[in-house]
Amino acid sequence: MLEEYSCKTKLVCGSGAIGALGSLGASRVLVVTDPFFMKNGTAKKVADAAKCVEADFFDRVEPDPSVELAAEGTAKVRAFRPDLIVALGGGSAMDCAKAMAYFAKGNYQVAAIPTTSGSGSEVTDFAILTHDKVKHPLVDEKLRPDVAILDSDLLQTLPKSLIADTGFDVLTHALESYVSKGAGSITDLLAREAFSGAMAALPASFAGNTSVRLKVHLAATLAGMSFTQAGLGLCHAMAHALGGLYHVPHGRLNAILLPSVVSCNAHVAGKKYAEIARAAGISGSAESIAVRNLKNSLVRLRRELGLPQTLSQAGVDPRSVWRNVPRIVEATLADPCCESNPMKVEDFLIRRILEEVTGRV
Ligand SMILES: NC(=O)c1ccc[n+]([C@@H]2O[C@H](COP(=O)([O-])OP(=O)(O)OC[C@H]3O[C@@H](n4cnc5c(N)ncnc54)[C@H](O)[C@@H]3O)[C@@H](O)[C@H]2O)c1
Ligand SMILES: [Fe+2]
Repeated sequence: MLEEYSCKTKLVCGSGAIGALGSLGASRVLVVTDPFFMKNGTAKKVADAAKCVEADFFDRVEPDPSVELAAEGTAKVRAFRPDLIVALGGGSAMDCAKAMAYFAKGNYQVAAIPTTSGSGSEVTDFAILTHDKVKHPLVDEKLRPDVAILDSDLLQTLPKSLIADTGFDVLTHALESYVSKGAGSITDLLAREAFSGAMAALPASFAGNTSVRLKVHLAATLAGMSFTQAGLGLCHAMAHALGGLYHVPHGRLNAILLPSVVSCNAHVAGKKYAEIARAAGISGSAESIAVRNLKNSLVRLRRELGLPQTLSQAGVDPRSVWRNVPRIVEATLADPCCESNPMKVEDFLIRRILEEVTGRV
């Protein structure tokens, strides 16, 4: 069977990459960002780099943006009529900007500038919006940005907890897309490289070595290029369900869930887990040993990066999880990420994983 892969997003990468905005020929630029980048002057710097005639800002993005916020932003796009929308921030700012551009249906370019090395949103067809404590993934190829600017200068001051949370998002994107039902040989290459790169560089980045940060940043983009075509799986479906309810950072939820999801999927995807583990230098000649070592490596890295082992350690009251099991199960099963999970996702699997990850009262 023939395989196809298309990537319309132009990538610009390196120190000072935001300068590339100046060559996009924009005259009216709307920068979509969160209050942090408005206050520290980066939003203004980005607008200046675009060398436009007029710039405006939508700077109210919060983590896990809501449908209402995206609707407000859409109204702003219609009123300002930009010819370039710049998404500046983590997955939340990029998703909000992409959704605004999508709903406003105007004639503009979208440039995404990730400031975390995690979501991959700068190259994906996804935007995740929250409504009534449920995270809804929008999926459409029109959501894919025209330009992704990977500027290492923006990564110098990343806080440790953000490196850890978003780093596990990258690992989860790579692993889930590698074992996904939608995986192919092209997405496999991207996922393997992303997984190995992030596994190797995350401990040093977390320890304060800024020279490896661009490696993790590139791994995040490669993992995005993989999962936007191959799809994700049960870990993301559950992270979306739990994130909507408890507002725990997305990557942190993946970190808590991922080892249990690997164990569960290993019955049908053991060969591929073993393959990607070995490619990252995790040993194990027998398939079952390689999968066990992969799971142990994830748990060890999670500890090394100071991440919680359970939902309870992440501040979620286990009693609330038990009360909400039917709601979590329903939201997980309704999430489109379940469709590409290698194993059919059933009610009992979600309950079993919840039991494993909830922790003590
Ligand atoms: N669209 C996709 O393909 C996709 C994929 C995965 C996740 N997501 C979504 O992305 C969101 C998570 O994104 P995220 O993990 O990047 O975090 P985020 O965008 O929610 O940001 C978290 C916090 O980090 C701060 N921050 C960002 N960059 C910083 C920097 N360089 N220095 C200091 N602080 C900084 C932000 O101001 C914010 O307060 C979730 O809503 C998740 O569902 C989207
Ligand atoms: Fe993710």
